[in-house]
Amino acid sequence: MKNILITGGAGFIGSHLVRLFVQKYPNYHIYNLDLLTYAGNLENIKDIEQAENYTFLNGDIADKKYIQNIFKTYKFDAVIHLAAESHVDRSITNPIEFVMTNVIGTVNLLQTANQNWKDNKTAKLFYHVSTDEVYGSLKETGKFTETTAYDPHSPYSASKASSDHFVRAYHDTYGMPVVISNCSNNYGPNQFPEKLIPLFINNIQQEKNLPVYGNGKNVRDWLYVEDHAAAIDLIFHQGKIGETYNIGGNNELTNIELIHTLCKLLDKKLGRKEGSSKKLITYVKDRSGHDLRYAIDIKKIHKELGWQPTLNFKEGLEKTVDWYLNNKEWLKNVTSGAYQDYYKKQYKQR
Ligand code: NAD
Ligand code: TYD
Repeated sequence: MKNILITGGAGFIGSHLVRLFVQKYPNYHIYNLDLLTYAGNLENIKDIEQAENYTFLNGDIADKKYIQNIFKTYKFDAVIHLAAESHVDRSITNPIEFVMTNVIGTVNLLQTANQNWKDNKTAKLFYHVSTDEVYGSLKETGKFTETTAYDPHSPYSASKASSDHFVRAYHDTYGMPVVISNCSNNYGPNQFPEKLIPLFINNIQQEKNLPVYGNGKNVRDWLYVEDHAAAIDLIFHQGKIGETYNIGGNNELTNIELIHTLCKLLDKKLGRKEGSSKKLITYVKDRSGHDLRYAIDIKKIHKELGWQPTLNFKEGLEKTVDWYLNNKEWLKNVTSGAYQDYYKKQYKQR
């Protein structure tokens, strides 16, 4: 029996990971720690909340006493750390919150884990889930590898870069068993509709404008969320201590290419005339410090652990769109109240 702490398990990627671990590993007990911020939603994991090997813990990763308490009580053997503030636009308006959660919260977890694990002889692991955005922005060619120098540009990526450095520092200074993965843009069910794909699915349904930042030529490398969860599973069990693994979709698209594909698909699914969603596209003021291009070289994880994406983008996007169309209640719940204020503020000046 292993006690595993997963942080951020009520969020987008965390909920897929928690489900995978609870169902695939009945001999693990999964403790899901989440503060339930605007991005955390217990609805995301409703189907497994009664499982015998699952416990939800509601708390803040930056709360020292609370984290010490749960480590004492539950004696975790491993941590998979996903809890974070994750949206670049929000980091531009509220960078301090990103430092508190992504930096202080991560160091608090590291410090507590290190204190609790020091004299323990059984195998332990601190797995830190991070992003490719720490590497900065690519020009038209080349890809990020595990040795690309860090060059973050947004408060979000700067806070994630900082947390990655702390994880490595705990390994190098205190000998803590750690592993890090840096993944490209995820998409799929349960993603909060502030990120590009779910936001645009929601807006198209409601026939609202589709705000494209700048010229729409920025490139992202998209990966279906369940493929990311499968990669985390593999790295958790077979990754080498102290190593970093890059995870990507081998699937680069400009924003405008992606948006055109999405518009076409939704015209079909919603029974609208072809070309009607495209008319909603509105070019707006660019994001400050907007990275031009992200692309991940997945050679290392493919060669060492045999991982590669299983879903092509067409299949993944169709699954995602179908999920949002079949879960209108979920979308309605998360877009009421505070979301309306966020949307007005975020897009007012654009
Ligand atoms: P998300 O915003 O959907 O979920 C984050 C979760 O963390 C939420 O459930 C939230 O309630 C929780 N949380 C926030 N602050 C907390 C705190 N102080 N204490 C405890 N819980 C807190 O994010 P996501 O997209 O699922 O991303 C998860 C992780 O993966 C993040 O670390 C992110 O940097 C990383 N990542 C995301 C992507 C992506 O495309 N979404 C890509 C690569 C890496
Ligand atoms: P996003 O989903 O916020 O992910 P990230 O910034 O972490 O890559 O944005 C993906 C791309 O889409 C990015 O280049 C910014 C762009 N974008 C828009 O053009 N309009 C929008 O309203 C949003 C949210 C994003």
